[in-house]
Amino acid sequence: MRTIDLILKKRDGEELSNSEIEWFVQNFTSGNIPDYQIAAMSMAIFFRGMTARETTDLTIAMANSGDTLDLSDLIPGVVVDKHSTGGVGDKTTLVLAPIVSACGVVVAKISGRGLGHGGGTLDKLEAIPGLQIQLTSDQFRAQIKETGIVVAGQSASLAPADGKLYKIRDVTGTVASNALIASSIMSKKFAAGAQAIVLDVKTGNGAFMTTLKDARELAELMVAIGRNSGRKTVAVISDMNQPLGYAVGNALEVREAIETLRDDGPPDLREHCLKMAGHMLHLSGKVDSVSAGSELASKTLKDGTAFQELLKMVAAQGGDTNYIDNPEQLDKAKIISTVKSPQDGFLSRIDAINIGKAAVMLGAGRERKNDPIDLAVGIVVHQKVGSRINTGDPLFTIHANNPEIINSASEEALAGIDITIEKSPTLPLHYDFIE
Ligand code: URA
Repeated sequence: MRTIDLILKKRDGEELSNSEIEWFVQNFTSGNIPDYQIAAMSMAIFFRGMTARETTDLTIAMANSGDTLDLSDLIPGVVVDKHSTGGVGDKTTLVLAPIVSACGVVVAKISGRGLGHGGGTLDKLEAIPGLQIQLTSDQFRAQIKETGIVVAGQSASLAPADGKLYKIRDVTGTVASNALIASSIMSKKFAAGAQAIVLDVKTGNGAFMTTLKDARELAELMVAIGRNSGRKTVAVISDMNQPLGYAVGNALEVREAIETLRDDGPPDLREHCLKMAGHMLHLSGKVDSVSAGSELASKTLKDGTAFQELLKMVAAQGGDTNYIDNPEQLDKAKIISTVKSPQDGFLSRIDAINIGKAAVMLGAGRERKNDPIDLAVGIVVHQKVGSRINTGDPLFTIHANNPEIINSASEEALAGIDITIEKSPTLPLHYDFIE
């Protein structure tokens, strides 16, 4: 086989066979195909697309390009995982993992770091002093055995083809291809041993997929990949027009997750986590329906067992559980400044994208992959779309360590806010469900 022939085939809109895709992935992973030919193939896929069958083959080939985790000896029944396409204030994993574990289903989760205005679970976890997110596969397995709950970073040996391809896509304008995004996400889940997957596909101004149509297309493709490869997969399409919960920023989000696990916290975050838990518990076979799963999940918040699971996980990963018992002691920013409403009315817009960008300006997120971040800073919004607001009510609070950025971050956040005289409807939390 010759790489040039495969590029020409895809460039001309033809379908690649399974053996051609496998050959291409194996050879670019081992360094036999130069970056310029990988880039050319990515561009051909970007313009010509891939069928669901080709995308499934690409996913499986990338999942098998390095080590794969087989957790079946440790986890009785179905190994179930969840993935979010990412958003602003999305601390779902911090709440969901302990809930699902408290329901008796093992959670062995590989998470990522944040990039741009979207946060990452690993950064949030690092706001807990001492907590280790880089575990060897022996440590990962030992923790599953001991505690039944682990959330850690991905080792370079899992799906290395995806890592290599993504780096090239990132600098060749070929990230925004549904076939490449779907195979990238699903290959990492397959390599990590998932047998059933709940996808949280976000849509809205703060999401990767800004329109419902695009989110639905991506969700349908990922669900098809799961189905074609024998893994039960469902997708919930959820809102990312406004931040999830109130807090945006690492330590701030950990505090909010702890509040939620203590049966308090923002109603939208709670409802979203219970919905996702319902799906995970249903796919795992623990319950007969999603609603029964959500009900069981809700009990773990009320009786404190989910909170206990977080303590257990933090302790197992070397974190200081004092900070979980006393979250007010987590790292705090030096300057706390609240912006108030200049008028009466209804909040018709508090765009996630603006709040996310303002948080990045404050240092809560990174523009480029290896940028340092400040775990203490961020923004807490006080209102949700549809809220009735009086003059002087707090709109959002900036938590900053650099006084020079406060004004520009406030301006960025304010540019995403509209207050209208007319009553404004609240936003739905979930738009669609695909199975
Ligand atoms: N997230 C991924 O993991 N891969 C992509 O290609 C896009 C988003």
